[in-house]
Amino acid sequence: MKFIPYGHQWIDEEDIEEVVAVLKSDWITTGPKIEEFENALCEYVGCKYAVAVNSGTSALDIAVQTLNLPRGSEIITTPFTFVATSNAVLYNNLKPIFADIEKETRNINPEEIRKKITDKTKAIIYVDYAGHPCDIEEIKDIAEESDLYLIEDASHAIGAEYKGKKIGNFADVTVFSFHPVKHITTGEGGVVVTNNKDFYERLKMLRNHGIDKSALDRFGPEAGWAYDLKFLGRNYRITDFQAALGISQLKKLDEFLRMREEIVRRYNKAFEAIPEIETPIVKAYVKPAWHIYTVLLNGINRDEFFRKMRGRNIGVNLHYIPIYRFSYYQEHFNINSGDFPVTEEVFSKIVTLPLFSKMTEDEVLTVIETVKDFGTV
Ligand SMILES: Cc1ncc(COP(=O)(O)O)c(C=O)c1O
Repeated sequence: MKFIPYGHQWIDEEDIEEVVAVLKSDWITTGPKIEEFENALCEYVGCKYAVAVNSGTSALDIAVQTLNLPRGSEIITTPFTFVATSNAVLYNNLKPIFADIEKETRNINPEEIRKKITDKTKAIIYVDYAGHPCDIEEIKDIAEESDLYLIEDASHAIGAEYKGKKIGNFADVTVFSFHPVKHITTGEGGVVVTNNKDFYERLKMLRNHGIDKSALDRFGPEAGWAYDLKFLGRNYRITDFQAALGISQLKKLDEFLRMREEIVRRYNKAFEAIPEIETPIVKAYVKPAWHIYTVLLNGINRDEFFRKMRGRNIGVNLHYIPIYRFSYYQEHFNINSGDFPVTEEVFSKIVTLPLFSKMTEDEVLTVIETVKDFGTV
């Protein structure tokens, strides 16, 4: 049997035709498809502005940069995320401060955020783990009380809803990623969305070195040569053929989400009678956009489970190694893992099972049967 990965893109002929058409056109980068993709994203999310970039990591970087925080400021975030979330804080010479998570959603715990606030705290980056939105109202209350900015790392959560409203309308800036394991893909890619015009204007410049005019602005018989460098930005531009892929993928997003939801429903049902397997919960006020399917193993050795599943071609994975455990963070911050008891417990028990919209019936059944067989393999 073929190895079943934990995530995989869905690319069809329609997507390929859209990309090829752009490759044959005059603009393969910084052209009209970028704005078309951004407009389509705004319409889908229901927000005002979008700035598409070449990765979710770049999107996080300029999301932090656009806040223009004083050097030495602290940003509170979760340790139970991909390293890109807190690396974006470091790129900007700011200090990430970790707050422990809630066991059932693996999202940052608002009570733990409160404990970490100091005079230097200027922002919170919360991550909607696995596509299950955080307790956003509680986090917003904290931000208002202490005058903090909010960045939502919704790399896992495009299409998710909190209290009936799509993610992308709550924080000052929200980031989505279009890496191939995500719900929709542009190869590599990401976007920052916001309802704040000033942030939007700055974000557009930050993606293009900090320059105030795009290549399209400076093209054609009427355009002049002048431009200015307003900030120290980088080249985070996405190409037009990626944007074309994104537009085509976005049309299928709701269907992809429905397919993922159905697989999650089947996994939950299949494992409900196995007391050692703790399946994910959904809080009453959210509609998740499932990016990964994770379970906690109680009374089963996770590493043995991992090895045996991989040995039987089930591409289990681990999301995440807590960030403070990495050498770089240890060397620079010397954080004590004992300060994060919930993160540590979840880390010791968690495993990710394969979940992607293109999973076949056979693949879903194989995962379920192999997990059920675990005790006998
Ligand atoms: C929570 C989170 N934030 C940020 C990123 C970075 O996104 P990208 O891979 O598009 O740079 C990822 C990617 O896996 C992620 O899972």
